[in-house]
Amino acid sequence: MKEPRNILLVGGSGFIGRRLAYGLANRGWRVTVPSRRPHRNRALLVHPNIRLLEANVIDPENLQRLCAGQHVVINLIGILHERRKGDFRRFHVDFVKLLVEACNATGIDRLLHLSALGADQATGSSLYLRTKGEGENLLHTLGQRGLHVTSFQPSVVFGKEDSFVNRFAGILRIYVGLFPLACADSKLAPVYVGDLVARIVEVIDDRDSYSKRFPVCGPEVFTLRQIIELIIETLDLPVRVVPLGKGLSKLQALVLQNLPGKLFTLDNYRSLQTDNVCPDGSRLCPTSLRQHIRGLAVMHGNKSHYDRLRKNLPPEDSA
Ligand SMILES: NC(=O)c1ccc[n+]([C@@H]2O[C@H](COP(=O)([O-])OP(=O)(O)OC[C@H]3O[C@@H](n4cnc5c(N)ncnc54)[C@H](OP(=O)(O)O)[C@@H]3O)[C@@H](O)[C@H]2O)c1
Repeated sequence: MKEPRNILLVGGSGFIGRRLAYGLANRGWRVTVPSRRPHRNRALLVHPNIRLLEANVIDPENLQRLCAGQHVVINLIGILHERRKGDFRRFHVDFVKLLVEACNATGIDRLLHLSALGADQATGSSLYLRTKGEGENLLHTLGQRGLHVTSFQPSVVFGKEDSFVNRFAGILRIYVGLFPLACADSKLAPVYVGDLVARIVEVIDDRDSYSKRFPVCGPEVFTLRQIIELIIETLDLPVRVVPLGKGLSKLQALVLQNLPGKLFTLDNYRSLQTDNVCPDGSRLCPTSLRQHIRGLAVMHGNKSHYDRLRKNLPPEDSA
């Protein structure tokens, strides 16, 4: 039997990381997940192959200690909003440098990295996308000798615990009337977290993937408006979408970024100015967002509507 190997998931306590941790642990990897708040992620410990440690990975010494004895590292650290000015650079660029240094110092020769679709140091439409692009470039440059790097660039990722569909569904469920939607025509190719995890796991030992950057998309392209309308229709909610033009979308971002929770920021607005879809000819992931959203009818308890969907009947109001 092959000796189990060790893998460090930096950012492994997040939405994608948790799913990846289980996926790897099920395949026999010994997975280490550092977290600043391990008590929030105790569910990971049900798997005997997962070790959850309290650590802030931004500290270089902690990072080096975590890397010691690992065979592979996967970096999932990323933020959508800055708490403090400079956070995008700190987490997307400076941290990547620290990680490469830690890998070099501890003899790790394999690093996989979660970037984002549209990440581009020069042409990214937002600071999020430009810093993500810069971090990715840095990794692929610094990592040339001795460290084999592969990056993944997913479109928006959905799943049972996501903060995309769930966030909109949560707001829409307590909303009545006209829903003003910014950037309603932006295009996205949502990818299922399980499909993304499968893509990552399948290339860890694949030499052909060294130095490659893989765009990762789901099977369908939606506008943001279509996704929101699908949630409204599936949950049978008394809400109608009102798409906002550019000026009002920007204004909404300006207002919301100053409210607690930062539901939507100017930088998010800028990210949505470029379509988040894969280049032609990309290998698409199979799972449909449509099916996933239909499952929401179960999760959110609208049983009669769910029964009608299952029987393939139209919703009550159009029956
Ligand atoms: N979700 C998407 O739709 C999507 C789409 C495209 C790309 N991506 C990229 O995929 C990666 C993972 O995304 P995700 O949605 O799983 O992220 P997430 O749920 O926000 O998780 C991020 C993780 O980073 C960890 N982290 C450690 N130190 C941190 C610090 N000082 N500040 C903030 N976070 C820190 C957090 O761990 P603790 O809080 O436990 O310490 C958290 O588990 C990111 O790089 C993201 O940019 C995500």
